[in-house]
Amino acid sequence: MKTIRLGDVAPNFTAKSTEGEINFHEWLGNSWGVLFSHPADYTPVCTTELGTVAKIKQEFDNRNVKVVALSVDGLQSHYDWITDINETQNTKVNFPIIADEDRNVSVLYDMIHPNADSKLTVRSVFIIAPDKTVKLIITYPASTGRNFDEILRVIDSLQLTAYHKVATPANWNNGEDCVIVPSVTNEEIPSLFPKGHTEVKPYLKITPQPNWN
Ligand code: BEZ
Repeated sequence: MKTIRLGDVAPNFTAKSTEGEINFHEWLGNSWGVLFSHPADYTPVCTTELGTVAKIKQEFDNRNVKVVALSVDGLQSHYDWITDINETQNTKVNFPIIADEDRNVSVLYDMIHPNADSKLTVRSVFIIAPDKTVKLIITYPASTGRNFDEILRVIDSLQLTAYHKVATPANWNNGEDCVIVPSVTNEEIPSLFPKGHTEVKPYLKITPQPNWN
């Protein structure tokens, strides 16, 4: 297993999932992707997490992001658990869950942290860009359910950087002022940022958030 770092190409794999066999890179196509692991089926925090992702799936679709979950449980367990998630979380799971019984993907993505738990995956999150490079890695403890609004917030930030040459300051939220990335020259600023900008310091230039389209 090679350590995965930001900027690396996300390792490709083929795996069984609740929506059929997935070749990860083919399945991603030209989309952004979120790959996230959870410790086990039929656990309380995971049940709420997968229900939450199902409810906000449209938010990922709107951003051209495909989501896929993973645990080391088998396919039948996933199918049976989905019935519970749908019932208890009042939703319908609408994204694939990988059944990584042989742990191929978990090992490839370093999702098993033996000093936390030698058998189960931790709560890893990977955000992957359309060029298949890894843009974000976060690892949460098993006992803490993830904040998926934060995942969407980071996707918004990454997409603003990729498509509009701005970065986002501390605690930024969608709609708030952004900072112009340092690689943009002063000559380029007027055409790239027609809403104007404020130069606080030569290295800190603020601009209203660019329009998404
Ligand atoms: C859960 O997934 O619900 C969970 C896992 C480990 C510790 C506590 C909760």
